[in-house]
Amino acid sequence: MGHYYDKNPNSKSQEVSVMVKINNQSYKFITDNGVFSKRGLDFGTRTLLESLELDKIKGNVLDLGCGYGPIGIYVSKNTGLVVDMIDINERSLALSRKNAKINEVEVNVFASDMYLNINSKYDFIITNPPIRIGKKKLYEILFKAKNYLNEDGQLWLVIHKDQGAKTVIKDLENEYNVQIMCKNKGFNVICAIKRWQIDTILLKS
Ligand SMILES: C[S@@+](CC[C@H](N)C(=O)[O-])C[C@H]1O[C@@H](n2cnc3c(N)ncnc32)[C@H](O)[C@@H]1O
Repeated sequence: MGHYYDKNPNSKSQEVSVMVKINNQSYKFITDNGVFSKRGLDFGTRTLLESLELDKIKGNVLDLGCGYGPIGIYVSKNTGLVVDMIDINERSLALSRKNAKINEVEVNVFASDMYLNINSKYDFIITNPPIRIGKKKLYEILFKAKNYLNEDGQLWLVIHKDQGAKTVIKDLENEYNVQIMCKNKGFNVICAIKRWQIDTILLKS
């Protein structure tokens, strides 16, 4: 059986167009078999997007695991930033490119298995993470994010209580300053802020 995180999904392509309202803005997205939430905007993603403090989003932004593109496209539309959008799934990447054009935003979509092809640092990493890849890889995404965040950079993620939100929050608190930004129908939107490193504080003082 195929997964939404396969590099090259082997399910037959069957593109469909979905209309979505996010915060009263209309978006059109093309989705397909073999990508996450092909029937439309996932409720966790919606909860995450509607919790973002758009006026505070500045600098470099990464949409990690972009799927067909709702996070990066929404953030770019509302901030004017050229968001980096990565995924491992080639079909998702092609849809993200297509959807960026349809929704008239400029973004930078590229393939990367986690952080493998990433050479920048970010002020925001935003993700509805791929829970199904298993805890070990999920934790790699969440904890290696620190290496790709600027000081005070923020990792935003959404996770459902039935997917282990409580444990993830507790574990993130060992490495980040964590705030729960929203809870809705079991989904938790988490903002994990990178702590200042001692050597950086010394250098700046
Ligand atoms: C839960 S989906 C979210 C998709 C999209 N952001 C949304 O909200 O609809 C997680 C995404 O992470 C991608 N993914 C899984 N493993 C990955 C990896 N190792 N590196 C990059 N992306 C990965 C999947 O292909 C999938 O598109």
